Amino acid sequence: MAEDFKVTPWEVTGDIDYDRLQQQFGTAPIDDALKQRLSRYGPLHFMINRGIFYSHRDLVQILDRYDNGGRFVLYTGRGPSGNTHLGHLMPWIFNKWVQDTFGTEMLFQMTDDEKFLFKEKLDLTDTSAMAYENALDFIALGFDPKKTRIILNTKNIDVLYPIALRVSKKVTFSTAKAVFGFDDSTHIGQIFYTTLQSVPAFLPTEECGEQIPVLIPCGIDQDPHFRVTRDVAPGLGYPKPSQIYCKMFPALSGADKMSSSDENATIYTTDSPKTVKKKVGRAFTGGCVSVEEQRQKGGSPEVCAVFKYFYYLFEKDDARINETAEKCRSGAILCGECKACLTEKINVFLETHQEKREKAKDVIADMAYNGFKW
Ligand code: TRP
Repeated sequence: MAEDFKVTPWEVTGDIDYDRLQQQFGTAPIDDALKQRLSRYGPLHFMINRGIFYSHRDLVQILDRYDNGGRFVLYTGRGPSGNTHLGHLMPWIFNKWVQDTFGTEMLFQMTDDEKFLFKEKLDLTDTSAMAYENALDFIALGFDPKKTRIILNTKNIDVLYPIALRVSKKVTFSTAKAVFGFDDSTHIGQIFYTTLQSVPAFLPTEECGEQIPVLIPCGIDQDPHFRVTRDVAPGLGYPKPSQIYCKMFPALSGADKMSSSDENATIYTTDSPKTVKKKVGRAFTGGCVSVEEQRQKGGSPEVCAVFKYFYYLFEKDDARINETAEKCRSGAILCGECKACLTEKINVFLETHQEKREKAKDVIADMAYNGFKW
């Protein structure tokens, strides 16, 4: 059956049907029972409550292990292809919550090699420079510097390579074609890359000499990589990694994923208050063509990009978000008011974030895996 949306680690297009995607990938829903269980460890994160982090693989096994006094390590990553935008921060903010809630160590992988291989125009010097900038944003979110290490693939390759090699020997070209959609014209760098994304899932076990599983909170678009990782793990003597997946952070244009290819629909962490105001001002909303009509018929928060921004990141209070939706539907508030409110919230957030981002420069060296030089 032809799909009207496409989700791969390198391309997200169309209107994503997240339930169908979950079925296609074969991941499990985070249902009410699992939410209830998660709420035992501390107040449930709003991203779980609202179904933004909505799907998983073997999360229950990780929690069982934790309940029995065992530990696990967090693993997530970033392909440094450009400036950090709000969409990138969303899953990282959730990772920070997991680190705080479970007291875990964290590995953050920056795949400068991947972005070199998959982005025609980028050289390795570009991607490693971007990695530094992106890492500042990651650190600014407040990860514990003592428990968090940042891997930069081209710098840490001495440690990564032996494990990547073992992975590569277990993955055939036909598997890579089926999982990633490669064909005979795909260059061989791209085919090998997935082995590098598997490695951090196995590092804690390698380092400790005992079976330490990882939990990977990230966008569901990364699942193809981790299906491969999970398949090869037992044969290499490693535990299978668990995953917890979120939906894509929407674009201001109304598209399902915020993407740097549409600069005006993307808010970067380094944007000025003026730029934010301009971008939010142009956002796609669920409003009517005239004020009169909107007062009468009301708007549609379901399709509104501004509302989605409140929902995904900027209004954590459930009562307040419901109230906003109601007021929109009844015509009591207009798009201009919502845009002004969102602009204000984003700018307040960015002001502090940009300060923390500057301070991150003092600790970034300490967080480099094996002390590599940035
Ligand atoms: N492939 C990811 C990207 O393009 C980067 C990445 C590496 C990653 N390891 C990861 C993302 C683990 C999530 C989890 O951004």
